[in-house]
Amino acid sequence: MRKKIWALGLTMCMAASLAACGGNSSSETTATTTAAEASAEDGAESTDAASEAEETETAELKTVAEGKLTVATSPDFAPYEFYAIGEDGTPALAGFDMALAQYIADDLGLELEVVTVDFDGVLSELQTKSVDLGMAGLSPDPKREGIMDFSDLYYIGGQSLVTVKGNADTYNSFEAINKPEVSVGAQIGSIQMDLATANSPDADIVALPKVTDIIAELLAGKMDAAYIETDVAKSYQKNYPELEIVMEVPYDQEGSSIGVCKDNAPLLAAVNASIAKALEDGSMEKFIAEANELASGEKYEGLLNESGQVQQ
Ligand code: ARG
Repeated sequence: MRKKIWALGLTMCMAASLAACGGNSSSETTATTTAAEASAEDGAESTDAASEAEETETAELKTVAEGKLTVATSPDFAPYEFYAIGEDGTPALAGFDMALAQYIADDLGLELEVVTVDFDGVLSELQTKSVDLGMAGLSPDPKREGIMDFSDLYYIGGQSLVTVKGNADTYNSFEAINKPEVSVGAQIGSIQMDLATANSPDADIVALPKVTDIIAELLAGKMDAAYIETDVAKSYQKNYPELEIVMEVPYDQEGSSIGVCKDNAPLLAAVNASIAKALEDGSMEKFIAEANELASGEKYEGLLNESGQVQQ
């Protein structure tokens, strides 16, 4: 898998002159535009009165960049957000969060702009009000309420304790990992860090910026276990069958919501309306199915380098 990605990286270097590859990696469009646009069209059956009302609403919407919906994400999290590698080797942002982002932008008549950062960066982009939304499989953790507002839930996932097959009998409970000699990973800024400190406070807790880093350490035998979102762990497991999900980890704030830049009530209301629509018209279900399919193909998780290519 790793080798394949390296080879792809090379192909992409050769294709570096392609306009699609150049420019700032922090500003991208999604691979799922077509699907999202198609379903936006499906949903365009509203009456004239309704669409007039919608237009007035949109006109009142204030976003950080006029006419745009700026969304921060951390693309190390398939099937939520990751890069799908196209047939020509070009990485394109994908995942159901990205499809939903496109759907919301279309619904609000705004152009989608995605900013890619590590997960703790998503939180600080929202805190500094540099973006309108944070869409990154974000849990509505009450501790974050001071720096963002939360949309309604749009997806229900769970939490897991993960290790490698060879260690599955050893690190199979909180007691088993709650020892200073056991290294336990979690992503910086994530609720998984809280799960680690709550359930295994005596372990050697290792905080890393990307889920990709955690997986790499687990596979290299440098880390013993890790707290990871269940569907993300399952997605990595497809590429790395050595990974083993040993147990489910209970967590109160189940599900994902969108982090909305604080004190923008019209935007929060509009986002909630779009989420309700996407759940109701079957779009969300389609985005999830498409994301899972893309995630089982050639993909890359992590940030691209400055020239918009897969990091080696
Ligand atoms: N659900 C967790 C949280 O909100 C983890 C989210 C991490 N997302 C990501 N794209 N890496 O803290």
